[in-house]
Amino acid sequence: MPDKETQDYYRQRAETYEEIYYRDQPDRRKEIDDEVVRLRELVTGKSVLELACGTGYWTKIMSETANAITASDLSDEMLAIARHKPLVAPVTFQQADMFGHSWPQGAFDMVAVGFWFSHQPRQEYERFFDLIATPLAKGGAIWLIDNNPPAEGPEHEHIRIDEFGNNFKRRHLKDGRTFTILKNYFSEQELRDLFSPRFTIRRLTYGVYYWSVELGVGS
Ligand SMILES: C[S@@+](CC[C@H](N)C(=O)[O-])C[C@H]1O[C@@H](n2cnc3c(N)ncnc32)[C@H](O)[C@@H]1O
Repeated sequence: MPDKETQDYYRQRAETYEEIYYRDQPDRRKEIDDEVVRLRELVTGKSVLELACGTGYWTKIMSETANAITASDLSDEMLAIARHKPLVAPVTFQQADMFGHSWPQGAFDMVAVGFWFSHQPRQEYERFFDLIATPLAKGGAIWLIDNNPPAEGPEHEHIRIDEFGNNFKRRHLKDGRTFTILKNYFSEQELRDLFSPRFTIRRLTYGVYYWSVELGVGS
């Protein structure tokens, strides 16, 4: 479960959150664009559960080819923006704490979570893995994307590492407020070591700025 400060930070940042996707860096943008192509294909014709959907950046892309999407987030501020996106497939938005809600078991072809895994405390990975595996139908896929350190920029100062190896950074909002955020980074090998005991890694793309995976449950 993310700490309260991380949750507050995203509520306060809803209005400006999508700036991360439109920075003027062509090589960085290309990694996102390449992922868009892969994701569109992956979700084609599928029923998707998206957790922590935020402003709906990925929801909108998935809606272009998916059959139906349930997209949820804790923050009403984020969901208000997501609800205004032009969507193609039917999307049901739901305000929910992903860990507190009882998602239907085996009901979705795909579970998608963008830019969340890096905020999950290391000591609670099994809980997160249960959360993303349980709603999946047999043969379903999990899609995750997250940052590598160059995507963050130098303005986020490192603060400390806790006893579990979680990294904490300071983040600033434009109005001057600061937040201490749990944000972990991984080498490609660490990602393989984390996911492979529990999931089949169907694809792992490790770029300069971002990593993404498609996971299956079982073999
Ligand atoms: C880094 S943003 C990612 C947004 C979106 N998935 C994307 O890739 O653009 C993290 C999101 O997680 C949401 N969040 C934080 N804690 C949550 C929780 N316990 N349950 C559901 N959503 C949560 C925040 O409100 C925020 O929208």
